[in-house]
Order: sequence, then structure tokens, then C-alpha cells
Amino acid sequence: MTKVLVATVKPFAPAAVECIKEVFEKAGYELELFEKYADQSDFVEAVKDADAMIIRSDKATKEVLDAAKNLKIIVRAGAGYDNIDLEAASKNGIVAMNTPGQNSNAVAELVLGMMVYHARNQYNGKAGTELKGKKLGIHAYGNVGKYVADIAKGFGMEIYAYDPFIPKENIEKDNVTAVDSVEELYSKCQYISLHIPANEKTKKSINLDLLSKMPKNATLINTARKEVICEEDLLKVFAERDDFNYISDIAPDCKAEIEEKFVGRYFFTPKKMGAQTAEANINAGIAASNQIINFIEKGDTTFKVN
Ligand code: 3PG
Repeated sequence: MTKVLVATVKPFAPAAVECIKEVFEKAGYELELFEKYADQSDFVEAVKDADAMIIRSDKATKEVLDAAKNLKIIVRAGAGYDNIDLEAASKNGIVAMNTPGQNSNAVAELVLGMMVYHARNQYNGKAGTELKGKKLGIHAYGNVGKYVADIAKGFGMEIYAYDPFIPKENIEKDNVTAVDSVEELYSKCQYISLHIPANEKTKKSINLDLLSKMPKNATLINTARKEVICEEDLLKVFAERDDFNYISDIAPDCKAEIEEKFVGRYFFTPKKMGAQTAEANINAGIAASNQIINFIEKGDTTFKVN
């Protein structure tokens, strides 16, 4: 019997787990739930007899993948797969996939939610500002970026986007102004929402040069990955500009210093919350399960990333 391990240190919503169980029950697969594990070494132990695996931000390191002797497929129920050692997966003949788009609306709703919260001084009773009429720059116009644009239109924001991988006309048909360079995006927009993946090219790419270009009362929103920010430069911008704000779903490593020195100019969710909705978990969980079944039964490699 094909054994599927769902390894989630941050578990799916119970409704999503029920859906995943149902899909695998129908397919006649064995399912093991491995949630809230205490240590990475427990994860290494748990993968030993799995044929297939679903993870979230769990770290599928070389050690994990080497220990998973029967593993044929690993699906990251979500968008970013920087937590999978793709080289180790390929070397071991393991297909790695993600489930693009399935949790994007949840992340986009959090972006706007955090923007309102911060623009209203985190509901401390003092007069805040409105989003209407403000310029929002979307850095990378993928699934989340598109949803952010859609929701921001409802707030009456002026929306710009930069994405070197998407033709300008595809962006502009959504009534979003496509700009020619990342510098232009940062120079134009008071609000910038990050949606770039974390990879060798993008790590630490959000730097002093870009952040210094932002107009007055700048707010950077990060629901992507903390690694894309050059934190040394982030601290410099905070120190140089008392109108700079940073709101993020992923607390930076320099969190303590920001909290100590730049009170009222930041917000960090206590735990990564972007994809934490029942809907997103159900969508991504069911998609991941079906992708596993389609791969095992028919060799379907749609959404393969290695
Ligand atoms: C993603 O890449 O899909 C998001 O960052 C969500 O991550 P999570 O599943 O760990 O919440």
C-alpha cells in the first residue's frame, strides 16, 4: 500500500486534514499525520517508510531526503519551495512539486489587512491615514500579486507592478500600471508589497539603494521570505528615515533591534500567518493530495519544480 506522510510542524486546519484523509481513503492509500513535531531529527525518523510526502514550510533538507529511502514524490502544499533541497531530491530520484495559487488569496488578504492595521496606527486610538489614492507597488506579479492588486482596487489605491517574467500587456489588462524597472517601482510607490521568491538571485536584494528611493511615509510589506531583505540595509533605512515603516509576516532576524529602536514603525505577525486560513489549507491540501495520486497512478509531473 502506498504510504503518504503529511509532515506539518504547523498543522493544516482540521477541515483541511479531513479533506486530505478523504482523498487518500478513496484512492486506497495509507496516510500518516505527523504534526507539531518537536525536533528536525524526529522528521528525519518519520520519513523512513514514506512513499510520498506533503509538507508546508517544513525543512526537507538533504538529511531528510536521504533518510526517505522509499520516497518518490514530495509536494510542498503552498507556493514557495525554498525549504526543499532540490538538488538532494533530484539526486535521490524524488519528484518535488508545489501547489501554485492555492493559498494566494489568503496571503493577499493578509497584506491588505496588515496595511490597514498599520495605517491606522495599529488601532491605538490616534488619527491614522487611509489607503485610498495612495500608490501601491507590487514587486512580482504572480498569483499573490494579482490578488493583492484586485483587493487594493477596492480600496481605491493606484496600482503599479514590476515583473520581468510577465509581459507588460498581461499586467496592464488588469488595470495595473506595469513599470520598466524595479527602481522605477520603488521610486513611485509609497507602499511596496513583496512577492518575489527566495533564491540565489533574490536573497538580500531588497537593499538600501531600493528602499531609499521610496517616497515619503514609505511602507514595505513582506509576505514573501525574510531572506530577500538585506537586514543590514533595512536597519540603516530605519535609522536614516523616520518616515520608513516595515510590516511583515515573517519577523526579521534583527527583530529585537527594530523593536527596541523604531517603536510604532513596524509590525510582525507572531507566527507566519499568510496561508493560515481554512480555505487556503483545504485548497492546497487537496491539490497536493491529488498531485501525489496523479503522479503515482499516471506519472503526471505537472507542477514539478526540480
Ligand atoms: C507559501 O510559500 O505557500 C507560503 O509562504 C505559506 O507557507 P506555510 O504553508 O508554511 O504557511
